Amino acid sequence: MQGVTVVDHPLVQHKLTIMRDKNTSTASFRRLLREISLLLCYEVTRELEMTTRTIETPLETMEAPILEGKKLVFASVLRAGNGLLEGMLELVPAARVAHIGLYRDHETLQAVEYFFKAPSDLENRLVIVVDPMLATANSAVAAVTKLKERGATNLRFVCLLAAPEGIEHFTSEHPDVPVFTAAIDKCLNEKGYIVPGLGDAGDRMYGTK
Ligand code: PRP
Ligand code: URA
Repeated sequence: MQGVTVVDHPLVQHKLTIMRDKNTSTASFRRLLREISLLLCYEVTRELEMTTRTIETPLETMEAPILEGKKLVFASVLRAGNGLLEGMLELVPAARVAHIGLYRDHETLQAVEYFFKAPSDLENRLVIVVDPMLATANSAVAAVTKLKERGATNLRFVCLLAAPEGIEHFTSEHPDVPVFTAAIDKCLNEKGYIVPGLGDAGDRMYGTK
């Protein structure tokens, strides 16, 4: 699918399988999500722009590569996005962070916003939106729409699992935003859950129900 990258690295796929298993504990689920986020972060930042800086090694002076431009922003869609955010911040500790509080209304499956806080100068930064699940994509579409309203022009979306319906919806609303996912599952069920999926990501991360 155009604009969609499936991160099919063996470590990602192995960890994802353990996360899908309903017998996996909350503690393991959280740890695995953090570990996978490191690998997804590696992929989504692969084409960041570089420049060089003059440094002195113990042996000689060299022009060494460093990241160019303003610090990037990770935008976490609460709650479950925080599970991906944590690992990403380990790899890019200087990144700025936006929090977007959204929950899915269980009847309508529409995204309901309850919180938004982001750096003020989004127009100058790459914004990487993180949320483990792209189901109907109502949440992802709402999150990206809001970020664009606040000035973001250069965005990417990272998730763990996507439904084909969600990818279709998201890419039709935001064709300019590349999607990175560890897997594209079969379909959505009648309640809007990804099948086979892993259940409710937020509940599995935090032990709620
Ligand atoms: C989950 C998930 C996404 C959303 C995906 O969050 O983390 O944000 O559902 O579904 P969609 O693509 O159909 O919008 P949820 O609303 O359950 O909130 P939570 O993270 O607080 O549990
Ligand atoms: N949100 C989740 O956490 N899981 C799904 O399968 C769909 C939406």
